[in-house]
Amino acid sequence: MKKIETKSGNLSSSRREFLEKSGSIAVMSIFGLGFFTACSSSEDMDPQQPPQNPPTSGGGSNGITISGNTVRIDLDVQTGLKTAGGWLLVVDAQTLIVNVGGSYSAMTSVCTHSGCDRNWTFGSNKFTCTCHGSEFDTNGNVLKGPANQALRSFSTSINNNILTITK
Ligand code: FES
Repeated sequence: MKKIETKSGNLSSSRREFLEKSGSIAVMSIFGLGFFTACSSSEDMDPQQPPQNPPTSGGGSNGITISGNTVRIDLDVQTGLKTAGGWLLVVDAQTLIVNVGGSYSAMTSVCTHSGCDRNWTFGSNKFTCTCHGSEFDTNGNVLKGPANQALRSFSTSINNNILTITK
């Protein structure tokens, strides 16, 4: 069983307990604004580290299952994604997901600047990579450098409250 890695903000204690106890997939989820992760400078990141490969399967106890290039998210478990502006970073799948007015957009979490894959915030309809401050819109397009290439988008579909992302 992999070590659980979670980072969260604005969570109720029951949700925090759930995240602390659940799953084998590292997930960062923020539903709302104003969450910042610890990395704020390039000194404490190693952009030369190759991105981690996602596992071929996930535990699913947190409503998330990773199988090859497919990520499935049970929206009845990850309920924050049901709200416009709700977003999720699935670290093990290197995937960002955001609810944009009721539809879903998914993209790689590997920043096109130097490859940071888990230092993301979301607010005002934009993702910010806090490694060096690049900003991207909800389709992954660059709003502000130093990144100069869009994040690769993934296709999404939803069926019976299961959001499927195909990388
Ligand atoms: S890795 Fe430099 S801004 Fe994202």
